[in-house]
Amino acid sequence: MAVIGVELAGRGYDVHVGHGLLADAGTLAAGFIRKTRVAAVADRNSHAAHGAALETALAASGTGVDWFITEPGEGAKSWGVLETLVDWLLERGIERGDHIFALGGGVVGDLTGFAAAVLKRGCGFVQIPTTLLAQVDSSVGGKTAINTKAGKNLVGAFHQPALVLADTATLGTLPPREMGAGYAEVIKYGILGDADFFAWCEANGAKVTARDPEALEYAVTQSVQAKARIVAQDERETTGTRALLNLGHTFGHALEAETGFSDALLHGEAVALGMVLAARYSARLNYISLDDAARVTAAIDKAGLRSEIASLGLECSGRELAAHMLHDKKMDAGTLPFILLRGIGEAFVDTQVDIADMAAFLSEQLQAH
Ligand code: GLY
Repeated sequence: MAVIGVELAGRGYDVHVGHGLLADAGTLAAGFIRKTRVAAVADRNSHAAHGAALETALAASGTGVDWFITEPGEGAKSWGVLETLVDWLLERGIERGDHIFALGGGVVGDLTGFAAAVLKRGCGFVQIPTTLLAQVDSSVGGKTAINTKAGKNLVGAFHQPALVLADTATLGTLPPREMGAGYAEVIKYGILGDADFFAWCEANGAKVTARDPEALEYAVTQSVQAKARIVAQDERETTGTRALLNLGHTFGHALEAETGFSDALLHGEAVALGMVLAARYSARLNYISLDDAARVTAAIDKAGLRSEIASLGLECSGRELAAHMLHDKKMDAGTLPFILLRGIGEAFVDTQVDIADMAAFLSEQLQAH
């Protein structure tokens, strides 16, 4: 079991990582429970898999649970579901000093966190992430949002949780494909800022995706430590440090847009491909060697993730993919910052990328291999 502090003045909190810690939720979250019942949000799947365990854990300290259950999937990150959730919370008399519990993946965490951010101008929330992606990324750092017609995560708030409980045992029921997609975000921390952790991933990635308890706990702990360090330095993504977490995301976003943000390509799968493209584009600009780019590709490949965009069979041009990038929400004053590599473990923000050259590179990649 590890406890990682996210050091933010006045808003700091702990992330607990461990196998089976959900059973201790009553004790670990005791400081965030003021009433005899808590309001908790889950989707149908996370509720079925882990709702009873949370109820049992809280019952041990005399607390009951009222559930708000959503349909699984991105559809829950909508104005409509947010409105229903906020009305439900208000009916229950939730006050600023109360904490709402979010049990599930990134969708549940983002929706609950945003509801907590706006309810009575901000009440507390506790994240209990039950997917690998949520444990290593979305539950930590306070980004909350819903989707709108114009795009994903375009309406939201920075609102930090009061506590994160990442029980790695909950990942036992996660479909293998989602394990792989979450693992892409684990390996990202090595590629962007920690060459030793990347080497560990090269050697141990298969154990993580096979849910070896020790490897999984180590991978989640290292990832959360890396994210906590970055968030503490640049909570609101204003200095360029937090932007490094977007490694692979601009490329990935273009691929997700081209595949209609559908199950054809999960977010983490798109990020994995995006990191390969970022590494290869960095090699094209002579920032890194072709060998380093090949190492990134091999590590993604070995984790059972797609590493070649040509394998997607997309019927689009490099120019069309590049055009999707220009709709990225990270566009800033007409330039699109790309996260590239000066080495494995040395990501940086490049604001000078030539979009025509990027389109040419993407055309080659769409046809290669
Ligand atoms: N998922 C990227 C971030 O939290 O900044």
